[in-house]
Amino acid sequence: MRSKFLPVAIACALLASVNAFAQEYPVANKTITFVLPYAAGGPTDKAARDLAQAMSKAMGGHSIVIDNSAGASGSIGANKVAKASADGYTLLFTHIAQATLPTFFRNLPYNVEKDFEYIGLVSENPMNLIGRPSLPANTMGELVTWIQANKGKINIANAGPGSASHLCGMLFQSTLKVDMTSVPYKGTAPAMTDLIGGQVDLMCDQTTTTIPQIEGKKVKSFAVTTPTRLTAVALKDSPTMQEAGLKDFSVTIWQGLYAPKGTPAAVLKKLNDALKVSVKDPEFIRKQEGGGATVIMDARNDPAGHKAFIVSELAKWAPVIRAGGIYAD
Ligand code: MLT
Repeated sequence: MRSKFLPVAIACALLASVNAFAQEYPVANKTITFVLPYAAGGPTDKAARDLAQAMSKAMGGHSIVIDNSAGASGSIGANKVAKASADGYTLLFTHIAQATLPTFFRNLPYNVEKDFEYIGLVSENPMNLIGRPSLPANTMGELVTWIQANKGKINIANAGPGSASHLCGMLFQSTLKVDMTSVPYKGTAPAMTDLIGGQVDLMCDQTTTTIPQIEGKKVKSFAVTTPTRLTAVALKDSPTMQEAGLKDFSVTIWQGLYAPKGTPAAVLKKLNDALKVSVKDPEFIRKQEGGGATVIMDARNDPAGHKAFIVSELAKWAPVIRAGGIYAD
């Protein structure tokens, strides 16, 4: 006869093995991978590498590597993590796309709210409207005049529908009531190369990667997307969009870490502990602030605060995106 205690015994054994797994995590010779859904050398890649370095230090030097699984506006990498083993070794580092792609894409192959564990947000990043060095305009006023005189001929680069650069560029066009040709890339790093080379006219990108290019006079800065000016030397003469007459124009994006749904709570706790040590790491802070970003140090460093924020951002951006009427399949 089958013992009624058998299922309980199996459950206890399973729980014991999950606990043992979580206690051992991370196993010394097993690398943790941050899947980064955009091209290497871009701003999200930079932030992921800075966090990987800080978290590795917080985890006793454990190896953390970056896997650039770029494409489809960041949805390829996010889907890879949504379908990965929930063992804490494959994580997703991404930005505001978590809250914009579900509205932009009609057939997103994962569910942002149901397929991920939320580990914590780490930074808020302003954006910067930049242009090719050969543009005739030098100020925001001159740029708006040039745009109005060249309607139908201007192109604007981005990292695909729903990416940060796309969202910012879309708001710029809708505020000016001008349509530009959108040129999507697998990330803003390859887009930056084409902007510097003059193949595209404009781009909105995160300040962490625009600042070095402005300093090197490789691109022109026209405006920042924050409500107040930024203090970085390269950007101190760049007006806010609002100062430049684009009323209510404000975009700040954010970046954070996710695990596949079902990752054991004890593993998530170890990752979250390391993330919270990292956001206080002076080297991590120096790198983010040097690029105009702000390190998040509030309830959003924790899973519950992170998830609540994403849910609020999904609700915030959905009507803006629908009003733009842009969808991808
Ligand atoms: C974006 O525009 O979404 C990001 O800049 C993508 C990237 O990091 O390349």
